[in-house]
Amino acid sequence: MCGIVGIVQQQETKIGKTIIEALTKLEYRGYDSVGIASIFDNKVLITKDQGKISEVTERIDINKIKGKIAIGHTRWATHGPPTKENAHPHTDCSGEISVIHNGIVENFRALKEELLNQGHSFQSETDTEIIPHMIEQLVKKEDILLKEAIIQVVRRLEGTFAICVVSSLEPDKIFCAKRDSPLVIGINSDRMFCASDIPAFLDKTRKVVLLHDDEFVTLSSEGYEIIDFNTMVKIQRKPHIVSWKPEMAQKAGFPHFMLKEIHEQPNSLADYIRIKQPALNKIADKIYNAEKIFLLAAGTAHYSTLTGEHLIRKYAKKSCSAIISSEYESITSLIDEDTVILPVSQSGETMDTIMAIKNAKELGASILSAVNVIGSTITRHSDEVLYLYAGPEIGVAATKTYTAQTIAMWDIGLELGKLSGEIDNSEYLAARKLFQEIPTVVKQTIVRNEARANHIASWFAKKNSSFYLGRGLNLQTANEGALKMKEISYIHSEAYPAGESKHGPIALVEEDYPVVFVAPKDQTNKKMISNIMEMKARGATAIIVMEEGDKEIEELAKWKLEVPKGYSEMLTTIPYIIPLQVLAYYTAVRKNLNPDYPKNLSKVVTVL
Ligand code: AGP
Repeated sequence: MCGIVGIVQQQETKIGKTIIEALTKLEYRGYDSVGIASIFDNKVLITKDQGKISEVTERIDINKIKGKIAIGHTRWATHGPPTKENAHPHTDCSGEISVIHNGIVENFRALKEELLNQGHSFQSETDTEIIPHMIEQLVKKEDILLKEAIIQVVRRLEGTFAICVVSSLEPDKIFCAKRDSPLVIGINSDRMFCASDIPAFLDKTRKVVLLHDDEFVTLSSEGYEIIDFNTMVKIQRKPHIVSWKPEMAQKAGFPHFMLKEIHEQPNSLADYIRIKQPALNKIADKIYNAEKIFLLAAGTAHYSTLTGEHLIRKYAKKSCSAIISSEYESITSLIDEDTVILPVSQSGETMDTIMAIKNAKELGASILSAVNVIGSTITRHSDEVLYLYAGPEIGVAATKTYTAQTIAMWDIGLELGKLSGEIDNSEYLAARKLFQEIPTVVKQTIVRNEARANHIASWFAKKNSSFYLGRGLNLQTANEGALKMKEISYIHSEAYPAGESKHGPIALVEEDYPVVFVAPKDQTNKKMISNIMEMKARGATAIIVMEEGDKEIEELAKWKLEVPKGYSEMLTTIPYIIPLQVLAYYTAVRKNLNPDYPKNLSKVVTVL
């Protein structure tokens, strides 16, 4: 979490404005406070405050921040509440060394104790503030050069970090280092960028260098130098050109990124289908030949892996389990060379997942991942990667990457079905034909449900609590729909297997209580009807995601959300989530909430 950015350029400009523009593109990583350290007249100037970027820039005039070099930070609070004092950048006692940080320094208490005994004084409760003081101690008290001092400091840090340092001692450079938190470099003819994520500078350059763990970078307006900070060996790494376009990280006329990303799904799914990936067959082969298979993911990605789990069991006829990454501990005793781990992630930077796969790799497992962000940490720890090709996702609530993850699970599932003989050639070809139709179905589903969902949202927005019920594969759709609703509208939404709801949750149902049912016309349909009746008998208001023309279900619905015909079982988990995405979106909007930046959340969760 936390977004960091740095710029070093040849000309002096209103650099504060450029930093704020870049931070705005990273705000999905955290929005508790904002801060900039710039160098002007050989002095470090700190401008920072609590709040979102739009709030802070109302209070401070960013046009006054001038210079050739600056670093900026948008925070997701971990150590200490979101106050001005805890906002980054943090400085040493003299105010000459300034640091921004994404990650958590786990041994900061012991290091702070040491610094307090050496006479340093602290202004914040953060773990980060120890870093400028440690550098100061080496530079000023032990006469060590700035670069060498930063390297010595990062070697002592335990935990995760991506840091950028500027100092009046060397006013034309930004020094960066990283371990387990993302950091990328962007290269332009007259300026250099560093940032947590590519969208920060995508409108300025597509020339990118990805940094690896335990690397240290010196950035000047002329170029970059990378070294391994443990061995001090220089690393030659050429930039590559990313295929993302700047407009992909802009709202393109939509009021929010989330709505734009919902509407992008026909295209992102079409991209996924169009791009043939050699990794697909290798992944299917390895899964098919593995003794043990575990899918690992967090949040939305976990719900996509539940589809994967279902399909691997069904098509490969193999036992496999989808495990929440932070619960990986429970399976470590089972991991060995005959194990395949399939991590799924949008960002490729989710710390719970990274830690789990690192351990699994050490124990000999093969890591076969499905990831959206190219070059991200998870991809670098993987033996094979299936890319999701969904483009940058800015809204904190995952939408287009969920459908991309789900189609990737279907893709693997179908290959497994062919390998195991569970589906014959004609069934395989029919399924692949259906696959091609998915973008169109998704488009029709968006068009058909947007106004309806907006209307239902005016009622839903007044509720405090709801259930989302589904069966079979679409239990995952209910899970993901409920997650969308709770994370952006703050309405308690609990997903349950529809058949299980009568074993407890039904006790909460009263007159006009919202229950959302995911009820496709497949083998679950009849049982869903019973579950809908049970809930309605207790006063529930039924909102049903159903197949167009399913009269029996329609009669039970107070409000229907419709998916086109012909997708029973095969691929239902993709179109059926669409109405629930738009329902959550419009409910948040009806509550005057910004769905792109829900409170307490960050898009990229880089803490354990
Ligand atoms: C989704 O809406 C959430 N914001 C969150 O659950 C997310 O899916 C989770 O943190 C996993 O992220 P990843 O896909 O980047 O690993």
